[in-house]
Amino acid sequence: MKGVVLAGGRGTRLRPMTEIMNKHVLPVYDEPMIFYPVRTLLENGISEILVISAPEYIGGYIQLLEERFEDAEFSYKVQDEPAGIAHAIQLAEGFVDDTFAVVLGDNIVMDDISENISAFADSDEDCMIFLKQVSDPSRYGVAEVEDDRVVELKEKPDSPETNTAVIGLYLYTSDVFDRIPELTKSDRGELEVTDLNRTYIEDDSLGYSELTGQWFDVGTPDGLLKASNFVAENRDA
Ligand code: TTP
Repeated sequence: MKGVVLAGGRGTRLRPMTEIMNKHVLPVYDEPMIFYPVRTLLENGISEILVISAPEYIGGYIQLLEERFEDAEFSYKVQDEPAGIAHAIQLAEGFVDDTFAVVLGDNIVMDDISENISAFADSDEDCMIFLKQVSDPSRYGVAEVEDDRVVELKEKPDSPETNTAVIGLYLYTSDVFDRIPELTKSDRGELEVTDLNRTYIEDDSLGYSELTGQWFDVGTPDGLLKASNFVAENRDA
């Protein structure tokens, strides 16, 4: 299986730092943020990795990643405008094989998901999402699960029905590239991953797994601080 790291976007919640630099080079304690999603893929056996970022930043990532991760085989692609997570995923067409993993560049996922990856490859499902219980669900995509099936996905709802957040890690089959062109832009002008993943509910081909390990969304100052403190306190001596 191949993997994709999405490192484009606007990074508005991390302004002013992101006025002049890309979010994914900001430090999580002592390393650039992007090292974490790259490691999530590598530690789960995925070494062929496509990194997607904005035109002005992609060169910097080539320099940063090639030097650091000798075990990985990187490819790179430019997203010309931050037109949404689903828009960025579409750019992986031609790079991936039948099943692939997507990790958002501002998500730190410390669970071992290798078994989920194998199960997905053997299943009839076309998308697998990963869920996590959180105290502040209205900041995220939120899932409603009934009888072991995801029955609803809502993007940042004002009054969430559950505390179950959808984290920034997704497994897809290549049929995703037929679905994304069918999406319409949201009110904020983006092709939304929540709208994309909802199409799999309609088809009954959406699987899910609940994660229990550490997870951080480091797209906000608070998330970045929490993750940095966690890394500093748990670093092996
Ligand atoms: P978001 O956090 O949803 O968006 P953002 O990075 O633009 O930040 P903000 O909401 O603060 O303005 O994006 C989640 C991840 O997806 C992030 O790591 C960047 C990536 N992304 C892309 O690669 N391309 C895109 O078009 C968008 C919107 C996000």
